[in-house]
Amino acid sequence: MSHRTCWLNGTYVAEEHAHVSIFDRGLLFGDGVYEVAAVFNGRLLDADRHLVRLERSMREIGLPAPYDADALQDMMQRLASENGIREGLVYLQVTRGAAERDFPFPSQVTPTAFAYARPKKLSDDPNAVGIRLHVVPDLRWQRCDIKSTSMLAQVLAKQAARQAGAFEAMMHEDGLVTEGGSSNVWIVRNGTIYTRPTSCDILAGITRDVVLEVARDAGVPVQQRAFTVEQAIAADECFMTSATSFVLPVTQIGDKRVANGVVGPVSMRMRDGYLARAARLTG
Ligand code: PDD
Repeated sequence: MSHRTCWLNGTYVAEEHAHVSIFDRGLLFGDGVYEVAAVFNGRLLDADRHLVRLERSMREIGLPAPYDADALQDMMQRLASENGIREGLVYLQVTRGAAERDFPFPSQVTPTAFAYARPKKLSDDPNAVGIRLHVVPDLRWQRCDIKSTSMLAQVLAKQAARQAGAFEAMMHEDGLVTEGGSSNVWIVRNGTIYTRPTSCDILAGITRDVVLEVARDAGVPVQQRAFTVEQAIAADECFMTSATSFVLPVTQIGDKRVANGVVGPVSMRMRDGYLARAARLTG
């Protein structure tokens, strides 16, 4: 049994005592939203940005925010510290709460909020030598900008990726890449970085935002433009970004090698730039 300290509805509790109702709408309907923020050097990374996105997700699904962002940020930092996390993740979820099962919003309901922390290697990620993506159709709904816990399509996509021996899924709509199963996807062509513009079709990744800044500071041109699976395979480089992996180079898409399977220099510049910024902010 783990001795992890979690947070549930305003209280710090041992993991084994953190229980929610079987009537929780997160469980019944996936009626909730979430965030995952990295911990680097024992400090939360970009938690403010994650909490702005959480507030937006709650607003978009008509869920009144049960805590303010400052209180949540303090709580997330405390979870990281109390659990001795130097490098890892803090997961935070808010659901509409527990009520008799009925699809429309219940009239009287208290949101359920919980969070936990876990260690994960971020600076020294073994996947930084290059990962493989598995191509699948994007089966999701039309509000992928909301960081919702309704994620069956991503569960199936990432399971298919795992069965194919790939690290991540690359989802596409009629051949146009949307994003990864839990990441944003980028390509590099003739020195320019391309990534899909934000819309309801993808999540506006916090790591994506930061990498746009890293690229700008490094003087690397970026175009926010959609690309096809074929263009990704034929690209000079491909990489993916997320709070859980920062920047990971992609060396294979399906059974095709990207750039002869060699990790590209622009991808590594973005990864190193991201890590340097993380160290600066948390050191
Ligand atoms: N997922 N796209 C999707 C569909 C995601 O689920 C995620 C993150 C991202 C990257 O967003 P960010 O850079 O803010 O982490 C893009 C988290 C990490 C998860 O579900 O575990």
